[in-house]
Amino acid sequence: KLPTLSYQQGLLAIEEVSTQQLVQQYGTPLYVYSKKAVLDAYQAYTDSFAEIDHQICYAVKANSNLAVLKVLAEAGAGFDLVSSGELARVLAAGADPSKIVFSGVGKTVAEMKAALQAGIGCFNVESLSELDTLNAVAAELQVKAPISIRVNPDVDAKTHPYISTGLKDNKFGISHDVAIKAYKHADSLEHLDIVGIDCHIGSQLTEIDPFVAALDKVCELIESLKQEGIELEHVDLGGGLGVIYIDEEVAEVSEFANALLPKLKQLGLKVFFEPGRSIVANAGVLLTKVEVLKPTEHKNFAIVDAAMNDLIRPALYQAEMAVIPMSSESQEGSEEQSWDIVGAVCETGDFLAKKRLLSLAVGDILAITGAGAYGFVMSSNYNSRPRPAEIMVSGDKHQVVRKRETVEQLFEGESFFELD
Ligand code: LLP
Repeated sequence: KLPTLSYQQGLLAIEEVSTQQLVQQYGTPLYVYSKKAVLDAYQAYTDSFAEIDHQICYAVKANSNLAVLKVLAEAGAGFDLVSSGELARVLAAGADPSKIVFSGVGKTVAEMKAALQAGIGCFNVESLSELDTLNAVAAELQVKAPISIRVNPDVDAKTHPYISTGLKDNKFGISHDVAIKAYKHADSLEHLDIVGIDCHIGSQLTEIDPFVAALDKVCELIESLKQEGIELEHVDLGGGLGVIYIDEEVAEVSEFANALLPKLKQLGLKVFFEPGRSIVANAGVLLTKVEVLKPTEHKNFAIVDAAMNDLIRPALYQAEMAVIPMSSESQEGSEEQSWDIVGAVCETGDFLAKKRLLSLAVGDILAITGAGAYGFVMSSNYNSRPRPAEIMVSGDKHQVVRKRETVEQLFEGESFFELD
């Protein structure tokens, strides 16, 4: 299913690297990313939109490892940020500042300053008050801040409610009705330079229609803005294209492009996208070891050494991610049974997968696929668990791109209270 995953001599390999070798060398839990898969997914966007002037701004939040960012920066990608932490990362990875857009509902003054000083390409502004604050910060630095307004097109992205962002109930963007007023206000502020319009309706979208509906709404606004004498240079359609985690029907990037291209050509503006998940999800796996098998009368639990602190998507969104064995040959004498794959964290919600047919033995290695996006980046140290190492693979080579955390690191910033 995943282009860079295959069984070679009965063992799961990522590109040409055996996961068994990685596990022996680095232990588990272990995140592993394929460089080729990242590049191929990026290229699918640039190929699909080759006919028009476009800029792919990878949404850093999906996977912010420096090695991943560097691969994308070298391929010519821009970046979509939501914090000055992400800004520092992309600059460290060699990003071209003019290809950076800064999204987010709560940018702080310090973050605005840092981004203006770096010379980023565009602020995606999400409220009227942000316009005023940004104008003041830009005035202080004696520069003009390039802006887009993030409009909330009020379309149903038909995805999980926690990751749906384009409905009027959501905290994101400026409603369609207020957008013109916001643009006029921006136009009146001396230190803002209106360059575009932006929207993002949600994540893990499997259908194209909501994108088309959002684009239609944005086109209407662009027309109204023209009548007000406000001309734009670009339109940013956000991210959100879904990926196949198990066997979902998901539109491909080329279908997505084919549905949007006629309208985009007519519009004649430069087009930005902010994909995150669809660039990195299926470039990564989380390898984990079966520590305990605990069959009960009701259910069979396989307790593994990864947990919700390492990969929170199943616990947080009931997300279903595929779990495959490292060895394609099942152990002798062990038959396929239904297993709940759970972590060792003291929470009933700590599960990675439910009711999976697998033939398991203690010590087996499992791979959770689709873990390249919103995996490590959402990990925590809950239960004082050091976070996993991250490895990048290219061809037959592999490298640690983030060391496994140590227990000492967990409390190195802490101290005893000494004032009584
Ligand atoms: N642009 C903006 C403004 C966003 O808010 C997001 C994601 C993206 C781009 C990238 O969307 P993507 O292409 O990755 O769908 N943690 C959740 C996903 C949260 C997405 C939040 N916003 C998950 O694990 O499913």
